Amino acid sequence: MDPLQNKRIIVGITGSIAAYKAGELVRELKRGGAEVKVVMTEAAQEFVSPLTFQVLSGNPVYTNLFGPEGRWDPEHISLAQWGELVLVAPATADIISKLSLGLAGDLLTALTLASQATIIVCPAMNSGMWENPILQSNSKRLMELGFHFVGPGYGELASGKIGKGRFAQIEEIIGKIKEVLYPKRNLLGKKVVVTAGRTEEDLDPVRVLTNRSSGRMGYSLAQVANWRGGEVTLISGPSILPPPFGVNLQRVRTTQEMREKVKDTFREGDILVMAAAVADFKPQSLHQKKLSRGELSLKLEPTPDILKEMGEIKGDKILVGFALETGNSLDRAKRKLEEKNLDLIVLNDPTQEGAGFEVESNVVTLIWRDGRTEPLPKLPKLEVAERIWDRIAEILK
Ligand SMILES: Cc1cc2nc3c(=O)[nH]c(=O)nc-3n(C[C@H](O)[C@H](O)[C@H](O)COP(=O)(O)O)c2cc1C
Repeated sequence: MDPLQNKRIIVGITGSIAAYKAGELVRELKRGGAEVKVVMTEAAQEFVSPLTFQVLSGNPVYTNLFGPEGRWDPEHISLAQWGELVLVAPATADIISKLSLGLAGDLLTALTLASQATIIVCPAMNSGMWENPILQSNSKRLMELGFHFVGPGYGELASGKIGKGRFAQIEEIIGKIKEVLYPKRNLLGKKVVVTAGRTEEDLDPVRVLTNRSSGRMGYSLAQVANWRGGEVTLISGPSILPPPFGVNLQRVRTTQEMREKVKDTFREGDILVMAAAVADFKPQSLHQKKLSRGELSLKLEPTPDILKEMGEIKGDKILVGFALETGNSLDRAKRKLEEKNLDLIVLNDPTQEGAGFEVESNVVTLIWRDGRTEPLPKLPKLEVAERIWDRIAEILK
C-alpha cells in the first residue's frame, strides 16, 4: 500500500516566493491517497490564493487562529490532533525562528507547537538569510529537537543569484515523507532493477509479435521498492501505465533493447527482478515490406535468454525471475530456477481466475533455491509486490 494512503497530513504554507510550488506538493500527496488540510500564514496568502489549495486539497483552507464564532474547540488544537504529520513547506526564515522559540502567535505556529506528530520543515529563502548564523542556530535547534529538514538546495534563487536556499525538489520531499511514514525501509542504499511489460519483435514494417502483458506486476514491484528506500530503475517494454513516482523509468521495445539496458543497469545494481514477459522467439527474418495475405507461414528463432545471461554474471547479487506457465507447472519453474541460477522464482498462471495480464490481482507461488514453496492467495498486484519484497529482504539478511 502507498505509504501515503489514508494518512492525515497538514501542509503549512508560509510567505516564500516558493509558495506556488506547494500546489504540486499537495497534488502529489493527494495522488498517493493522503488526506490533506492546508494552513496558510497571512504572508503566504500574499503569494497564492487559499482558493488554489482549497481546490487541490479538497478541504477548506485554514488561515485564522481565531476561527468562526460558535466553535467550542479551538482550530489549532483540533488540527494538531487530526494531523499525523505536519509539513511546513515552504518554510520561511521567519517561521523557522518562531518554531525554534516555541512562539504561537498564529494558527500554523500554534498548531505545530500543540502537535505530537512528526514535523518536516522544507526551508526556502535567499542564501544570505539561510546562511545567517542566527537562522543556522535556530534550524540546528529544531533538528536537535527531532524536526526533520528537507533542503534547502543549491541553485538559482528567486533573486537570480546562485546559492543555497532553494526549495527542495518535490520528489525529495515526498521521499522523506514516505521514509517517515513507511516502516519497511529495508532497501535503503540498494540499487534495484525491475523489468516490466512485454517486448515486441518486428515482423514487417507494421506488425509485431508480442504478448498481452500490461506491465502492472513489474510497475507494482518498482513502486514498492521505491517506498522501501531502494534506488530503482524500471526497464519497461511498451505499456500505457503511468510511471511510478520516484522511479527511473527506461523504456525499451525489443528483447535486444531490454537485454542491453538490463546488462548495463545490473552491472551497477544489487538486485534484479525480471517481471517482464520477454518474447521467447522472434521472426527469423524481418520483412522489409508489409506481408501480403498470401504469405501465411512464419519461421521463428529464439530471442536472447536475458534471465539466464544475468544468472551467469550475478555473483552474490540477488536475482529473481518470473515463470509464467499455463497449468502452474511447479516442476518446470523449479528447473528454471536452477538452470538460470535464481535466488527466487515467482510462478504464475495467467489463465487462472484472478491472475493474468490485464487484471489488478495475481495468484502466485514463490519458490526458493532450497525447494521451499509458498503459494500466496489471490491478492492485488501491489500486495503481491509487498510479499515478494518481504521475501527478498529475508534473503538480503
Ligand atoms: C517578494 C517576497 C518574497 C519573499 N520570499 C521569501 C522567501 O523565499 N523566504 C523567506 O524566508 N522569506 C521571504 N520573504 C519574506 C517573508 O514573506 C516575511 O518574512 C514574512 O513575514 C514571512 O511570514 P510567515 O513566516 O508568517 O509566512 C519574501 C518577501 C517578499 C516580499
